[in-house]
Amino acid sequence: MILGVGSFAHSLGQALADAGTTVSTYLTRNYGHFPPSLVGPTFSRDAFSSPVPLIKKNGVEVVIPQSIDWALAPWAKDLLKSGVGIFSPTREAMRIERERDFARKLCADFKIPFPQAYVASNRLEAEKILAGHPQPFVIKNPLCSPNSPIHTILCETVEDTRAWLRHVNYAEGVFLQEYLGRAEAGHIALVSGGEIYSLVTNQEYKYAFNGNQGIVAGAPLGGLVERDPDDQYSLARQLIHPLLPWLRKVRFNGPLQVTAVKRGGQWHVIEYNIRIGVTSGPMILRMLKNPVETVLKTARNEQLDPQFKSGLNFGCSLTLAGYGYPFTQVRSPHLPLEVAGPFDCDVWWNEVAQGTDGQLVSTGHRIADVIALAPALDAAITRAYANIRKIRVVGSYFRTDIGRSLWPPGRI
Ligand SMILES: Nc1ncnc2c1ncn2[C@@H]1O[C@H](COP(=O)(O)OP(=O)(O)O)[C@@H](O)[C@H]1O
Ligand SMILES: [Mg+2]
Repeated sequence: MILGVGSFAHSLGQALADAGTTVSTYLTRNYGHFPPSLVGPTFSRDAFSSPVPLIKKNGVEVVIPQSIDWALAPWAKDLLKSGVGIFSPTREAMRIERERDFARKLCADFKIPFPQAYVASNRLEAEKILAGHPQPFVIKNPLCSPNSPIHTILCETVEDTRAWLRHVNYAEGVFLQEYLGRAEAGHIALVSGGEIYSLVTNQEYKYAFNGNQGIVAGAPLGGLVERDPDDQYSLARQLIHPLLPWLRKVRFNGPLQVTAVKRGGQWHVIEYNIRIGVTSGPMILRMLKNPVETVLKTARNEQLDPQFKSGLNFGCSLTLAGYGYPFTQVRSPHLPLEVAGPFDCDVWWNEVAQGTDGQLVSTGHRIADVIALAPALDAAITRAYANIRKIRVVGSYFRTDIGRSLWPPGRI
């Protein structure tokens, strides 16, 4: 059972269904309800205040949460007690994503490079930190949640930082992290049975517009993954493996993704995530020969044997953004969505619904994710672009330069 909505639930659900299992979705947000209904039964929060009775009744073996906020739901304790497999670390192990300052401290304890960072609870404190350390800071939520009062704000100069500090919401305080430049990359592993299994190295294109311009959007506009069980760029060896004693101590089982920035020849941790996100998750499951077994065994904290399909070395994901994105305050009416011809790669609907006449309509800011896998990177990118061009919604857009920067890892 997926705990999520939109293209996350659509894509992971379909990949697992195609691999021979049955999938349902407990809809944890108030949008994107139509796409997962294309894969299996869906259950709304209005009709079912908790997924736990459904899990018991339907004999669900594993749940896959879209974000970490399930742990704050009124039914979280029941879910943990139910004994169902959870494809995510739980309890103490979740702190590595949830609390940014905890991740900073872990890195310090295990000698993993992490940018200078400070927590401030109000504007006065934040401005004092800036006065004492006059350098650009990225402004982040100290506690990660999809509903945080602030989302990451990139400041490239001290003046940028000062200007934004006058403007942000301090309800949960701010986490100020030294700005380290643009040479970013990510790596995704599974941790299970006390071992680390590298899967892919990835890039997420988070700037809203071509040429990495505009703001860092709430979710990426595109992504690349490269199958990488041997960790050829050493990201896992430098930034994940040193954590092994802690991972074992807290019985961490689930995905572990590191996002890093290279400065002065050295990779630094920007953040850890404990889930497979909407950009890389579907590509990873499609790359595996045994995705169902891998997810189940991870949820049960057993030894893994992830097997890759031969040939699918690279994946490219493109997002079709709707009217107003990335400035999510801007709204539009439901708009007709037209598709010209059949797709020859995966297309996952996100904020899309079906009208009573059967026609699809876009209902929000992120319309679809188009994903292609291929033996070579260029082929994956070309196929994804050929397919996203078949979708038309007035006012929508996509980046046309995915893969032309920020790859291979370390390049700007
Ligand atoms: N310290 C930093 N230096 C440079 N870029 C950063 C830094 N922190 C974040 N970024 C950029 O902002 C993006 C989002 O930040 P991240 O910490 O991953 O938060 P979230 O994913 O929760 O928004 C990163 O992927 C990276 O592009
Ligand atoms: Mg991130």
